[in-house]
Parts: sequence; C-alpha cells; structure tokens
Amino acid sequence: MLGLDLLQQFALFLINHFLSVALSTLKLTSHLDVLDISVPPDPAFGDYSSNAALILAKKVKASPKDVAAKIIEEIKKADTEYALDFVEEKGGFINFKFSQKFLIHSFNQILEQRDLYGCSLAGEGKKILVEYFQPNVAKPLHLGHLSNSIVGDSLSRILKSQGFKPESDTHLGDWGTQFGLLLLAYKKYGNRPVVEKNPIEELNKLYVQINAEMETNPELREQGKQEFVKLEKGDEENRKLWEQFRDWSWKEYEIIYSELGIRRADHNWPESFFEDKMPGVLEELKEKKLLVESQGAQIVNLEQYNLGVAVVLKSDGGTTYLLRDLAAYIFRKNQGFEKQLYVVDIRQNHQLAQTFKILELMGHINSPEEAIHIAYGFLKLPEGAMSSRKGTIINANDFIRSVQARALEIIEEKNPSLKNKDTVAKEVATAAMKYFQLSHNLKSDIIFDPKKVISFEGSTGPYLQYTHARIFGILRKVGAGVVRPFMGTQSEADKSADYNTSELAVIRKLLQYPEVVAQVAKEYLPNLLCNYLFELSQTFNSFYQAVPVTQEKDEQLKAFRLTLITATAQVISNGLYLLGIEAPEEM
Ligand code: ARG
Repeated sequence: MLGLDLLQQFALFLINHFLSVALSTLKLTSHLDVLDISVPPDPAFGDYSSNAALILAKKVKASPKDVAAKIIEEIKKADTEYALDFVEEKGGFINFKFSQKFLIHSFNQILEQRDLYGCSLAGEGKKILVEYFQPNVAKPLHLGHLSNSIVGDSLSRILKSQGFKPESDTHLGDWGTQFGLLLLAYKKYGNRPVVEKNPIEELNKLYVQINAEMETNPELREQGKQEFVKLEKGDEENRKLWEQFRDWSWKEYEIIYSELGIRRADHNWPESFFEDKMPGVLEELKEKKLLVESQGAQIVNLEQYNLGVAVVLKSDGGTTYLLRDLAAYIFRKNQGFEKQLYVVDIRQNHQLAQTFKILELMGHINSPEEAIHIAYGFLKLPEGAMSSRKGTIINANDFIRSVQARALEIIEEKNPSLKNKDTVAKEVATAAMKYFQLSHNLKSDIIFDPKKVISFEGSTGPYLQYTHARIFGILRKVGAGVVRPFMGTQSEADKSADYNTSELAVIRKLLQYPEVVAQVAKEYLPNLLCNYLFELSQTFNSFYQAVPVTQEKDEQLKAFRLTLITATAQVISNGLYLLGIEAPEEM
C-alpha cells in the first residue's frame, strides 16, 4: 500500500524525503502537519517551496536564514543523483527546482501507471456517504437537480480514486403534506390516460392548479392534509396512487443516468423510508431535553447559535422535512459512514445548518468534518430564473436535449465525416454541461450560455476533449497507436541542450497531477481539477506549437516527444474521468 502511494506522489515525495533526511540529521523535529510544501506562484522560485526554516527558526531561536542554510547544506549532500537543479533560500522559504534529469526520468511512471496515475490509497477504505440527485416525486427535474448530480458524481469518483469508499444515496423527496395535496388534486381533476402519457408534466399541472385554487378556497389545504394523514395511516388507495406517482417519476429521472452517465445511486433511502424511524428520534430528542413546545409545535431552540428555531413536529402533529433529515443522518451513520456529504444548493444552507447543530447537540456529530454541506449556486439560463410553483420551471430534460442538439450541429459543421456522430455529440454535450458546472467556484450563481460552453476553445469541457482527440489524431498519423514509455538512458536524459523549456513545462505540469487530485479530495473543490486540466492543455498546446513532433528528424527525440504527448493524453483522460466526462479519441 505504501509503495503505491510513494510512487504516485513521486515528485512531492522526493522533496519530503530530502527534508526529513536533513531535519533528522540536524536533530530538528517538528510536527509534520505544520510543515507545508507548496508550489510557488512564480516558477522562477522553483517547483516547490517549504516553510520548514520559518517554522523551526522559532523553535531553535535562530534566524530562518541560518536554519535554511543548514538544511540546504544537508539536502545538497543527500542529493547524490542530482535530482535538483537548485535548492536555495528566499525570504526564509526553501525553494527546490527539479533537474531535467529527474523530470525526464520520473515522468515515465505516468505511462507505467496509465489509468491508475493519480490514484492513491490515502482514504484507507473509509466509507463516505455522498448524497446527490435528490429529486422530488411528481415534480419536474430542474437545473438544480442536474447540478447536484454532476457535482456529487464527480466528488464520488474523486474520493474513490483516493482510496475512500464513497456510496451514494438519493434522498428522494417522496413524503410530506404536499403529497396529500397532490393526491387530492389527482382525485378531483386527474384523468389517468392523460396523466399516464406525460406523468410529471400532468401531475405538476394538477399541483399548480390546486395551489391556485387554494387561494380562493382555503378549505382545500385542510382536505389535502387529511389525504396525507390517510397515506401515513396506510390507506390502500392513497398508497397505490402514491407508489404510482413514484414509479412514473423515476421513469423520467432515468435521463440523468442514461444520458449524462451519472452513476446510479447505491442506496434508495427516500424520505418515506424514515417514516417509522422518526418516532425514535423524537423520543431521543425528548430524553436529551432538547424539545420545547411552542404554539402547539415541538421545536428545538437554536437561537443561541444564531440558527433560529427549528420546527421538528408541526402543531397538527405532522412530521417535518427536518425530522426526516435527523433520522436519515442517524440511520446512515449507523450503516458505518464516517462522513456524510450533502450535495445540494445553497438555499438549503439554513435547513442543513439547523440539522447539523441538532445532531451535534444530540451527540451524533462530533466534528464538523462528519457532516458537510457541499453547497453551490444556481445554474441559470440567460433568459432568467426559474420558479416551480407557477409552472414556469426550466425542465432539465428539455435542457439536456437542447444542449445535445446544439453539440450535434457543431460536430456536423466541424467534422461531417466523423463516425458515431450521435455518440460523440452526446459526449460533447455532457462535457459542456459538467465542466461548466464543475469549473466554477461552487458558491456563485452561474449563467449557462450554450454558445460559450460548447465552444472548442477556452476553458470548456469540449476544449479538453478536443486537445485529447487531437493528440490521438497525431498518434494515428504516425501510426504509433500506443507509444511505449520512453526509456532513454541516463546520459541521454542529461543532454540538456536537447530538451526544450516548453517540453519540460509539460512534464512539470504532468507531475503535479496526483497532488491536485489529492487536494480536491480533501477540499471538495472540483474546480481546482478543472483549472489544472485547462492549464495542462494550454501548456501542451504551447509545446506543440514550439517544437516539431511528427516532423522531428532525430528518432530518439521524436520517440520522446511522442511519449510526452501520450502521457498528456493519459492525464487529460484520467482527469476527465474524475469529472465524469468521456474522452473520445476522435471528434
Ligand atoms: N429533495 C430536496 C430538493 O429537491 C433536496 C434534498 C436535500 N437533502 C437533504 N438531506 N435534505 O430540494
């Protein structure tokens, strides 16, 4: 296990190794977690930078400059293979720059590890629950559901690549008084053959209709509540209808799995699943003296935490969304999940903050790391916002189809003779949607402009796919199929004049990949991976403009460059995979 990890963090590992050798020789020790190794903002400062001297100087009461000088001296002694071009002090930091020899030799590991390059076992098989794609029965999928399935799926892939065991749950919204209202609407104005043809749209119409009618006839609300009470008590007709609504809804939700390649949920624990688990939670809340009665309702007072009042049980005895969330967390924790990630938009900030606080007061959450809301802003279309109540919602289904149609148009235009045009168009459309969502800082709202997002240029999913396909095009041209790793001899690697700075820049970038993935898995920020892949593509494209590859006369150098581009394609495809994006070989 260790061996694999060491290889994968090879570049960073070497720096760590040098530092620890130097520190132990000098009998300087510190807790490793305060020592930080980072990539300096200016490449002139080298590939990595360590704060060790700054931290240790305080401990030994010497100047950082002097401590750095001692450490550097030891590192130079340890670097018998000339892996470093320089190791020097600047402003108390110790900066490292890899030698060309090291870069050339270490990048071969990429083509030895292939799909595994960037993977690690750091997660030690810890179970993490990732909750995403939580639509609501009989409601159309909206862009928010699309967003959270994209983010959740990618985070799961990333966690898995780092040795965690992520499992997903769709906390399907299939319970609550609104179902009583829907049952009432269906019984009053529903027409089965009509609804059956287009279930979600028709059911939603019924829901919109009853909401409108309720404004003049408040009585309906009461009747709706009664229908829900009947459902809760197991009334046969209501149960059957409700199950029917759920089955109809899932048919439409399938698009997320079939068209977008989102991994199917591992668990099906919808809100209704917690119906019989809620009483136990109420008991526990009572026992722990957290429940207070207020105007007939049962609440938890969270005012001292600036979280207001959380209603657990309504005054009419109805259970709440919050109570189901409490039950869900406890149940899932008991299934062995050490962490639970809730991928859902920022509108649920308050609701989830209340949930987590109550769980903490109950003693189920012991650290903020155990329950994390992965919040994100809204994906909006240029036309404006969406509203579900009045029926003007932007249907995710229509949205996906329209992006696919547009991608097909572009492919027809750019590469009319391409085989599998439909498949590639779908892959391009998916790349456009996913990359767009994932490349943004999750907290801000984003406007989806199809023209920009499906473009083959700029920071887009299709641009990364295109860079990948372009490399495969070059390899097809030289008939290289799959290029074997470049195994130049040491002396060849040392011929400094032969290596161009643009190719060394690509290697440097490729070697950063494992660290980027590790960081994304720690901070849950897929946009860092998007940025990285975009930069890699840019670095690659500058290299490709600067030096000949297929036209290179020197066979040894040509083989090396073909290896370099193969490794680049490998890393782009590994990274895209973690974003949930296909990497076609031709487009
Ligand atoms: N079904 C909800 C919605 O569409 C999201 C559920 C979020 N998850 C949770 N455990 N509260 O808005």
